[in-house]
Amino acid sequence: TITARCDIMLFGALGDLAQRKLFPAFYQLERGGLIADGSRILALARRELDTAGLRKLLLERLEQSIKPEEFDRSVAEAFLQRVEYQILEFHDKEGFGVLNGWRDEQNSQLIVYLASPPSIYGVIARNLHSASCCTEKTRVVVEKPVGHDLESSRVINDELAEVYNENQLFRIDHYLGKETVQNLIALRFANNLFASQWDQNHISHVEITVAESVGIEGRWGYFDRAGQIRDMVQNHLLQLLCLIAMDPPSDLSADSLRDEKVKVLKALRTITPDMMETCVVRGQYTAGTSVGKPVPGYLEEEGANRRSQTETFVALKVEIDNWRWSGVPFYIRTGKRLPEKLSQIIIHFKPAPHYIFDPDQKHLANNKLIIRLQPDEGMALKILTKDQGLHKGMRLRQGPLELTFSETFEIGRIPDAYERLLWEIMKGNQYLFVRRDEVEHAWRWVDRIIQNWSDGGDPPKRYAAGTWGPVAAIAMITRDGRSWYEDA
Ligand code: BG6
Repeated sequence: TITARCDIMLFGALGDLAQRKLFPAFYQLERGGLIADGSRILALARRELDTAGLRKLLLERLEQSIKPEEFDRSVAEAFLQRVEYQILEFHDKEGFGVLNGWRDEQNSQLIVYLASPPSIYGVIARNLHSASCCTEKTRVVVEKPVGHDLESSRVINDELAEVYNENQLFRIDHYLGKETVQNLIALRFANNLFASQWDQNHISHVEITVAESVGIEGRWGYFDRAGQIRDMVQNHLLQLLCLIAMDPPSDLSADSLRDEKVKVLKALRTITPDMMETCVVRGQYTAGTSVGKPVPGYLEEEGANRRSQTETFVALKVEIDNWRWSGVPFYIRTGKRLPEKLSQIIIHFKPAPHYIFDPDQKHLANNKLIIRLQPDEGMALKILTKDQGLHKGMRLRQGPLELTFSETFEIGRIPDAYERLLWEIMKGNQYLFVRRDEVEHAWRWVDRIIQNWSDGGDPPKRYAAGTWGPVAAIAMITRDGRSWYEDA
């Protein structure tokens, strides 16, 4: 389906997000013929520039960033015809009058994309409102992080709510736009095989790993105030956890899905100070080797405050206090400068109730479902079979039922998360966007951990860049007689 015709106002159009993610995603949508005729983008920023200058800049950047086999100059040029530039000081209420002039066709859908710092969302919303260039049909897109903690997220959400209704707000968590993350919904709710096994009767524990090999990529200023728990856990990892743990929604509507996710967030066991030792590990990388190259430690990064205690790694043991998950820990970990970029979820099923094979092989006896979110998107169900050959007797062997999406379905490229999200915004579908109560429940839970750290917790534990985090993260899971999954 091609989307309906829309006018898009992009605030922060010269910023990193717009340049690295949004314009390339719009280009890909154009290439796929998915942007309706007549749709336009007004790029807004403070810098002195004009439309011709912006188009030239964007053309160069697209040519550099899009893979050569996907770059088609005539598509790029056609796309850039939709883009105009307007210099605007976001605090200047009067200045917003020019936006009205640009919106000559009040009937087309207006999308306001705030790719600007969250602290000025409220100002922009109010200025837009007083310039009366937003209607009840306007859709507003905001980026994470929504705030820095529960209190600041409430302030931002209140400011937005003064001007817009919740059903107009599209809060982005780009993980929800990843094909494989959406696939969790299909996996769980289209396959009765799993549905009947998805609880504490059959699952012993769950692992979620979101590992990155990159460091902080020159974003010291932002990252040092956030840390890995605010940057990754509060949003991406908790969203993944919700999709794995939630009850079946009654349909695929945005609110049905989000209602179920909120129930999970409300059931997360609060991490109290006495649980910090066993359930929380925070780490910070030191110099080491990343993907074959020597790299500096976090405290030696450009612009670093050498005494920073900000974490670049977090491992948590999370309990969900409800009927389905009672007694099933979710071990989650995420970090920068780990050995590879890898996001995966492992569902560890309980062993058969009575074991009749070689006692030495008992450690093999639980099935595992490995869901590879990125890279090498796909899944594998590890099952036990008899080892082949006369002399093997009834020795067991664990092997995968393997589904690698790129091979099985012969799909070409997997669209970037932002392509999917922009497309859903243009269609007005909120199911991949985060509702206010989700954001706030996630903050409430994460804030408690941060509070425990600032109330005198240990400083972050060091780990060398290129390793899987502090040894304490391994100890956290081995203490429970388990280990992080490694594919041999
Ligand atoms: C962003 C974080 O939300 O997600 C970054 O701010 C992180 O720090 C990025 O690197 C990871 O996203 P992806 O899609 O590369 O896994």
